[in-house]
Amino acid sequence: MVGPTHDQLDVADRDAVMQACAAFRPDAVVHAGAWTDVDGCEADADRAWRVNALGTRHVAEASRLYGAHVCYVSSDYVFDGSAGRPYTEWDQPNPLSVYGRSKLGGERELGPEATIVRTSWLCGRHGRNLVKTVLRLAAGQERLAFVDDQHGCPTFSEDLAATVRALVVARRPGLFHVTNQGATTWFGLARAVLEIAGLDPERIEPIATDALRPPRPAPRPRYSVLDNAALRLSGLPLLADWHEPLERLVKELTA
Ligand SMILES: NC(=O)c1ccc[n+]([C@@H]2O[C@H](COP(=O)([O-])OP(=O)(O)OC[C@H]3O[C@@H](n4cnc5c(N)ncnc54)[C@H](OP(=O)(O)O)[C@@H]3O)[C@@H](O)[C@H]2O)c1
Repeated sequence: MVGPTHDQLDVADRDAVMQACAAFRPDAVVHAGAWTDVDGCEADADRAWRVNALGTRHVAEASRLYGAHVCYVSSDYVFDGSAGRPYTEWDQPNPLSVYGRSKLGGERELGPEATIVRTSWLCGRHGRNLVKTVLRLAAGQERLAFVDDQHGCPTFSEDLAATVRALVVARRPGLFHVTNQGATTWFGLARAVLEIAGLDPERIEPIATDALRPPRPAPRPRYSVLDNAALRLSGLPLLADWHEPLERLVKELTA
């Protein structure tokens, strides 16, 4: 297995992607690379399309040429959040932001034989995420505020990876929503982090997205809970409730 970083492989560079596949001859490619700066994407749409959509075209083309099964990691931001109920794989996407549109563009580069996994609100040991942000802010300030009018499913990268692995090994085609079970708001998630860390959750106050200063350039879906319908109806295992992996992660980060 190889896991090239952005420095080692730019998916926007078609020749580089073709060469990487020619050299390694992968059986499977998990394509998780993306420009994920949701607000940055509003300011530089061409970069978003180049990396997230065109880059996925290159990964799809190279994988097809070398017979590798592709799994593309996509996002809950393909939905506008107006349904007010969990979205299934068969609901119509309608992204609100450049980032969401470019991720949907990436989905459309893949053939019917590929696996597409839409996930949401990723947290884990690596990279930046809300769990780490809450712990860092709580160490430096008494009062914290998190938005309470965006609803989604926190998902933990280790749990997601296990399902991605199973789908890829089975070369299972199609679109799958894969999230930890249960929904909350950023406020609810932040409170849970403090509770597990043994800190006072009352230190966090709820605020509305519109009250954020400065306002965020990219609109976010108010309700992007993903119904993992394709997994559920196929009889495939669902991920655990989000509280379980959150407890593991907070204990690990605060040990
Ligand atoms: N975070 C979420 O809540 C969430 C929700 C749903 C779906 N997703 C999807 O999950 C995947 C992983 O997201 P993440 O949250 O882990 O984001 P992340 O930490 O920003 O990871 C994305 C990775 O892609 C790399 N990358 C950026 N441009 C690239 C390029 N042109 N070629 C190759 N690699 C490139 C980045 O490298 P550099 O940092 O060095 O540029 C980074 O290592 C993405 O596809 C994202 O769309 C994330």
